[in-house]
Amino acid sequence: MKLLKKILCGLSAAAILAALSGCSGGDDTKLIMATNAEFSPYEYHEGDAIVGIDVDIATAIAKEMGKELVVEDMAFDSIIAAVTSGKADIGVAGMTVDPDRLKSVNFSDPYTTATQVIIVSEGSIVATPDDLKGKKVGVQLGTTGDQYASDIEGASIERYNKGFEAVQALTQGKIDAVIIDNEPAKVFVSQSEGLKILDEEFTTEEYAIAIAKENTQLLNDVNAALAKLKESGELQAIIDKYISAE
Ligand code: ARG
Repeated sequence: MKLLKKILCGLSAAAILAALSGCSGGDDTKLIMATNAEFSPYEYHEGDAIVGIDVDIATAIAKEMGKELVVEDMAFDSIIAAVTSGKADIGVAGMTVDPDRLKSVNFSDPYTTATQVIIVSEGSIVATPDDLKGKKVGVQLGTTGDQYASDIEGASIERYNKGFEAVQALTQGKIDAVIIDNEPAKVFVSQSEGLKILDEEFTTEEYAIAIAKENTQLLNDVNAALAKLKESGELQAIIDKYISAE
């Protein structure tokens, strides 16, 4: 009996210490979101602010949890590391759930679907994904587009830090095509001259929120908040605010 009491007291003392020293995730009033704000309409710069679908969704989730959202902008391929190291609580970046990433992080329930598409110049001889064989293909470093491109026979892959830089290289004739997510592709094509998106899509993907594996409480909280936002229609309203239905 006495021994049991000792063990229990020891345990709760350890829990208090852990909480005080911040082992349980640091500042409890803030929810830190890692993103790469080069991906309109999901996250992009508007003046000094970072805005977009993902920012609005994360703001709504933070609100559900009684927290304030803090957005940290970084390279896309640094987001997973920011989450696993605890520098950020959530990675929200139009990030596709994929088996490789699932080895290092958990993903929330998906909040939307997307596809990978191919952007080419208007006069291009590339008309289907098959035509990309042996071509110069531009992608954003570390994205699923990068993975697909890497599987194309004989293609040489140009990896850029920003999707926009890949699109710019395409307009300058330095590469033959860009593989990127459908909504950002539409934005890029609308902002440049002489580009088009091929009808044939590569794949369908799901976007979700990356969370550290050990942070199961946060995963539950985020999923609960997401479920509420889906249920109330707020999630759809956020998406509709940025993407007009064709
Ligand atoms: N959906 C793709 C992926 O997960 C691209 C995401 C790029 N996101 C960004 N914010 N730059 O790999």
